[in-house]
Amino acid sequence: MSTTSTSLDSPRMLPESVRQKIEAYIPRYPSKRAVTLPALHIVHSHFRCVPYQAMKEIAEILEIAPAEVADTMSFYGFFPQAPLGDVRVWVCRSISCMLRGGDELLEHACKKLNIEAGQTTSDGKLTVEFAECLGICDHAPAALADDGRAYGPLDEAGVEKMLEELKKGPVPPESL
Ligand code: FES
Repeated sequence: MSTTSTSLDSPRMLPESVRQKIEAYIPRYPSKRAVTLPALHIVHSHFRCVPYQAMKEIAEILEIAPAEVADTMSFYGFFPQAPLGDVRVWVCRSISCMLRGGDELLEHACKKLNIEAGQTTSDGKLTVEFAECLGICDHAPAALADDGRAYGPLDEAGVEKMLEELKKGPVPPESL
């Protein structure tokens, strides 16, 4: 079904292709509610964020309250409401990385880019965030880009090199 408005009295923002991808998950799960997380990932891959209107439309497709979608979003902390930079990078601040200077490296990265943690550079190229354990503690202090590139063990020079690489944009999965 293709329409331009929703029962929520706002212009629809999810394209039909995105709605269909979400609906295709429904038969695979025990309930529509259980599709919330896959739906968020689908929307996030399309927009690189999950705006408020998209959150409401996910709720409408899954026949749940928008607050339930918001709960899932806030629990995972992975889904921003505003668009991110071309590359999103997480610098780990959990114990192994923290003990080896992870916090200071995050600060160094932000200083180099003139942003705060969680922000995007003014040219829209990079978003830098902190993360809890990235699962690569043997490379502590470590960082991970959302295109799959992992970095570590890092020092200040390594962080600067990483930022230069990441500013060139995402790499396709087949080149990793
Ligand atoms: S503690 Fe940093 S990757 Fe595990």
